[in-house]
Amino acid sequence: MYSCAGLGVTATNNTATTMEEDDDEEEEEEKEEEEEGGNKSLSSESDEEEEEEEELMLGSGKGNRERWIEHYASSHRILLVGEGDFSFSLSLAKAFASAHNMVATSLDTHQDIVSKYSNGIENVRELEEMGCLVLYGVDATKMSKHFFLRTQRFDRIVYNFPHVGFIFPEANGCQIKLNKQLVKGFLMNGKALLRKEEGEIHVTNKDGDPYDKWDLVKKAKKIGLALHESIPFCKDKYPGYGNKRAHGSYSDAPFRLGDCTTFKFRLAQEGSC
Ligand SMILES: C[S@@+](CC[C@H](N)C(=O)[O-])C[C@H]1O[C@@H](n2cnc3c(N)ncnc32)[C@H](O)[C@@H]1O
Repeated sequence: MYSCAGLGVTATNNTATTMEEDDDEEEEEEKEEEEEGGNKSLSSESDEEEEEEEELMLGSGKGNRERWIEHYASSHRILLVGEGDFSFSLSLAKAFASAHNMVATSLDTHQDIVSKYSNGIENVRELEEMGCLVLYGVDATKMSKHFFLRTQRFDRIVYNFPHVGFIFPEANGCQIKLNKQLVKGFLMNGKALLRKEEGEIHVTNKDGDPYDKWDLVKKAKKIGLALHESIPFCKDKYPGYGNKRAHGSYSDAPFRLGDCTTFKFRLAQEGSC
């Protein structure tokens, strides 16, 4: 036994050693706790960063993380229909810096895309790398029955320059009828895949004769879609987009646009006619 007067403690050697150990242990525990605390805040910081990254990818974040190009936002779930060489889809994807929110479709098969367009497959590759789901052989007039699409709902459903191809001359009554059937079928199927809350179907078409004869707005109204807005379409607003003929031996060539309009339709309110 010895007196540990300096510490104000009387203890046996053993006890003294034990108390020193206790102090050491406490210090170590404190250190550990401090470190743990540090790690905790580190891990919660990295959790937050991960969440932010995810939000950015989905475009679902608050504030200015959401990216826009014209009428389309990275927070929208977007279905593109009747694509040519997929350059319109890619233009949106590049603006969003992601394509996780997009499903891009074409009536063409994969092989058609290879043979018809000089950039088609490269565009598809880029889209897929950015997270886009690309689907081939999707008929706009039947897509609400498509095995995958029928399980999905979209904020924006977009078809630029619907056209069945030149079976008759453009202004011929039969050609107009076929194009009208295509648009009607698209609108009906689009309606079934549209999110009820502020979902929009966009059709872009050339202005003037014979396109006016397609009676887009009247057709939509009969189907239960109300015209929300119609806005001049400007191709230059979509960098990289090349409008394609998509039919015949000049599939990869552009067609003359002239004045064009994007018609935005929403579900008609119940009771409105
Ligand atoms: C004039 S091209 C426009 C192509 C593309 N949207 C663009 O802006 O360059 C018409 C497109 O409609 C597509 N199409 C024709 N009938 C279709 C249908 N029933 N379902 C889906 N797409 C169709 C053609 O394959 C072609 O790609």
